[in-house]
Amino acid sequence: MYAIEAVDLVKRFVGYERIGFIKKRKTVVEALKGLSLRVNWHEVYGLLGPNGAGKTTTVKILSTLLIPDSGYALVDGHDVVKEASAVRRAIGLVLYPDKGFYSRLSGFENLVYFGRLYGLSKRDAEARARELLGLMGLEDSMNRPYEEYSLGMRARLAIARALIHDPPVVFLDEPTIGLDPISAREVRRLIRDLRGEGKAVLLTSHNLWEVEEVCDRVGIISHGRVIIEGSPRDIKERLGFKYVVELEVERDGKVEVVREESRDPVTTLRRLMDQFTGDGYRISRVRINEPSLEEAFVRVVSNER
Ligand SMILES: Nc1ncnc2c1ncn2[C@@H]1O[C@H](COP(=O)(O)OP(=O)(O)OP(=O)(O)O)[C@@H](O)[C@H]1O
Ligand SMILES: [Mg+2]
Repeated sequence: MYAIEAVDLVKRFVGYERIGFIKKRKTVVEALKGLSLRVNWHEVYGLLGPNGAGKTTTVKILSTLLIPDSGYALVDGHDVVKEASAVRRAIGLVLYPDKGFYSRLSGFENLVYFGRLYGLSKRDAEARARELLGLMGLEDSMNRPYEEYSLGMRARLAIARALIHDPPVVFLDEPTIGLDPISAREVRRLIRDLRGEGKAVLLTSHNLWEVEEVCDRVGIISHGRVIIEGSPRDIKERLGFKYVVELEVERDGKVEVVREESRDPVTTLRRLMDQFTGDGYRISRVRINEPSLEEAFVRVVSNER
């Protein structure tokens, strides 16, 4: 059983556009046009895509906040439409921008409140809230009212809230947006820990470097469909991206830089080193530049436009 399985999801938004003072025209936005994806247990899956591609819509459908027009999705084995309450118990959700905290209550009180909503006893909720506040580096501000929290503190509290009932499946819509580099790194570590506990995590992000670092698999979504999927490495390989092997060599006081593209950088590096040392060069520096997921992303998405 997959942790998350979405099959052919379609979602249209109907709106009205002003075309003059009184006249309105009906508009239909097809946010999802047959989106499918599967996430395994023990896996972090990253949904990438340009603005408006349908990432948040996907997360909202999978977390029962929106109902798809067609297609279906199972989370922890439960249908997101027909068994919405079972799905809600099985998931933790962070949406961006976050809403729903009580501004006068402290971070701690907010977490306890949400823990109680999930059916935890007062004692368990308090213990869990304390633990999560510590994990998110908020212990010093746990008794300050939420309205005094900075953007980054709010983001961290939102993650803590998503984990209060220890859900097996976690959805994170742009979890590190607005976080400083140290907090962002903490969050990435936390995400890896969640995977280590066997959970499934689906996150969206615009930070490709981060996705590459934290995700086992990535789906690139464009115009409401996943157009390519795989591990970051697979995706880059499938697109035919090559490593660049770079060597700085020196002979008779003259420095040269040698570059060669390769799919097998280690072999290439060895060959170049043998060749140049054989020719009496001294090698002063070597570097292998890995193609980035960013290049892959830009290429796939601009082909789609
Ligand atoms: N409630 C809504 N009413 C009308 N249109 C909507 C609504 N929510 C989303 N859309 C439209 O659906 C499309 C997908 O939006 P969505 O928020 O899923 O994109 P996204 O991939 O999360 O983008 P971003 O990277 O900017 O967060 C967009 O064209 C958006 O304008
Ligand atoms: Mg979004």
